[in-house]
Amino acid sequence: MSDSLYERLGGTEGITKLASDIFDIHLDNPRIAPRYADSDVAKVKKNVTEFFIAGTGGPNLYEGKDMIETHKGMNIDAGEFIAVLDDALKAMDLNSIPQREQEEVLFVLYSMKPDVVYL
Ligand code: HEM
Repeated sequence: MSDSLYERLGGTEGITKLASDIFDIHLDNPRIAPRYADSDVAKVKKNVTEFFIAGTGGPNLYEGKDMIETHKGMNIDAGEFIAVLDDALKAMDLNSIPQREQEEVLFVLYSMKPDVVYL
């Protein structure tokens, strides 16, 4: 049996770094940064990290809201969704994540599109 995606991304340590980098890149991305203007950065990073860990086969410590509940009423468009995916790819390059793992992360993120856009 092969290792879980969680393990192949470097476990809790690797994913904590990756999620933090993704969020920092969002804050620097003019397409979406305004969305996070009022965010508590530490709290969002913690929730995104725990969501990512749970979603890749690690321990489930996520206590945040589900994706529909989180993004409902934000009216996020498809361009913003792609911007988030672009930032995730940038962060994975920055952390030297191999292509196979990048593809798996991208697929997992893309599959959540109906729970994020136009709600
Ligand atoms: C697959 C793509 C996405 C995933 C997996 C995702 C995941 C998350 C998670 C786990 C949270 C934290 C929920 C909580 O604290 O209870 C969150 C919050 C948030 N997301 Fe997303 N998200 C995605 C796409 C987007 C997009 C495209 C936007 C718009 C640019 C966006 C904007 C936000 C905002 C504004 C918050 C609230 C931050 C705050 O509480 O201050 N998300 N997201």
